[in-house]
Parts: sequence; C-alpha cells; structure tokens
Amino acid sequence: MNKPLTIPDIINSKGKRKLTMLTSYDYPTALIVDRCGIDMILVGDSLAMVVLGHKDTLAVTMDQMIHHTKAVTNAVKHAVVIGDMPFMSYQASVEQAVLNAGRFLKEAGAQAVKLEGGATVLPQIKAIINAGIPVQGHLGLTPQSAAQLGGFKVQGKTADAAKKLLDDALALADAGCFSIVLEAIPAPIAEVITEKCPVPTIGIGAGAGCDGQVLVFHDLVGLFDRFVPKFVKQYTNISKEIEKAILEFKNEVESGKFPGKEHSFTMNQEELKKIK
Ligand code: KIV
Repeated sequence: MNKPLTIPDIINSKGKRKLTMLTSYDYPTALIVDRCGIDMILVGDSLAMVVLGHKDTLAVTMDQMIHHTKAVTNAVKHAVVIGDMPFMSYQASVEQAVLNAGRFLKEAGAQAVKLEGGATVLPQIKAIINAGIPVQGHLGLTPQSAAQLGGFKVQGKTADAAKKLLDDALALADAGCFSIVLEAIPAPIAEVITEKCPVPTIGIGAGAGCDGQVLVFHDLVGLFDRFVPKFVKQYTNISKEIEKAILEFKNEVESGKFPGKEHSFTMNQEELKKIK
C-alpha cells in the first residue's frame, strides 16, 4: 500500500477500477485514510465548515488551506493529495490563480489542486495546467457559488442545464484536468458525462455510474451532524464513541479512579523524605 500513486495512475484507472477519494484536514486522520488505501485525499474547503465551524465554505483562507494541507502531506505515503482552492483564491485573476495553485505544491507538498466551475474558469485552469500543476475540476453543485445557484440544490435537472454540465465537463477534460468531481446532479446525467468524458469522474451525490466516489471524512464517520445531505452515508457514529470515552474519563477523575498507579511515576523514598 505504500507505493505512491501518481496522476497518470488516476487517469489510467478509468474503465478499469472504481476510484476512492476522501477529505482529510490533519495528520492523524490522513494517516488512517492513507493506511486504508484510499486513492485521493482532498484537503477540501469543507474544512471551513467541518473543522473551523463556519456556516459555509467561503471564509476559509489560502493560509489556512496551506496549513492543513501540509499536515496532511506530512502523513501521506500512498494517496494523491489534492489541495482545494478556496473562494477568491482563483476567481479574480489568472495570475492569482496560478500563484495560489503553486503554493499548494511548493509550500504544502500537494500533488494537485481542485477548483470549482466550468467555462467561466477555463482560462485559470489552462494557465495552472500550463504551469505544470495538475487540476481536478468540480461541476454541478459548486458550494462557493451557492448564492448564485439559489442554495445547496441539485443541479442539471433540465435538458439545457444537463447539456451545459456535459459541455463544461468536456471542456475541462480538453483543457487537461485529470479528473472531475460531479456534485449533486441526477445519476443518469452523471452516467452520460462519465461515458463521454475521457478522464475519471468522481461523484458525490451523482449516483453509482461515476468512475469514483468522494465523501467528506467527517460525514462518513459521523463527526459532523449540523446537517446531513441525502447523498451522505454515515458508516459509523464516532462522535458517540468519543463522547463515551470523555464521560468515562470525567467520571474516573471525579471518583478518583484515574490516574491509577500504572499511570503515575514514583521516586526514591530517601529523596522523598528530604522534602517532606
Ligand atoms: O470541499 C470539499 O470537501 C469538496 C468535496 C465535497 C468534493 O469539495
């Protein structure tokens, strides 16, 4: 499992095996995710919500993303690590987009970046790829544009909207994106895009027809319950386990059971006498 995966490995997986991607934002969880053989680890801007407690993803900064991405790359030996470009790190200009994308590789040790949007951000995507930085696209429900989309809603439900998604996906692949996240779109549309798109599609709320699937780590393990979207499968409820452990600690401290002798240090009795 320790062999490092590469971007060409991800591209070449299309049609051969299903890909897996999970988010991670820190060293200990990245160690676990990587140990499990997950193909790609996304340091998502979902960090803003599930780790920093913001109401949406907009507030997270480049410096915070770099800080967390570095913690993740310190742990990872196998997965491709992708840094998620935060709101306003690439929208304003092509030059800013390239410089900020470069920081994920240069300062944080990521192998690639992800950014949201189709035709409107094509100049940025092309320039980043021209700088030698692999890019993962992200279409459908793009949370950074939630205000413009009228909220966190399923996208591509009309023929026109679905056609626009397909055109965007083909344009991103043509520009050189190595894979494309499809978020919250009808499963049959994701299937059509996956069929026609030469690079892997990674679905989240886009059905089983995609080339791979991604989930937010905190959703998968039950560490974030402010809201749970329909497309999330909670495989465990780790917060209940953590709560149980904390309450046991509290009870044992209050009752004098912890720490026991086995958790304490002793000293030479003669030395002890001198200070008594
Ligand atoms: O920020 C994130 O976690 C994401 C995934 C949901 C794809 O963009």
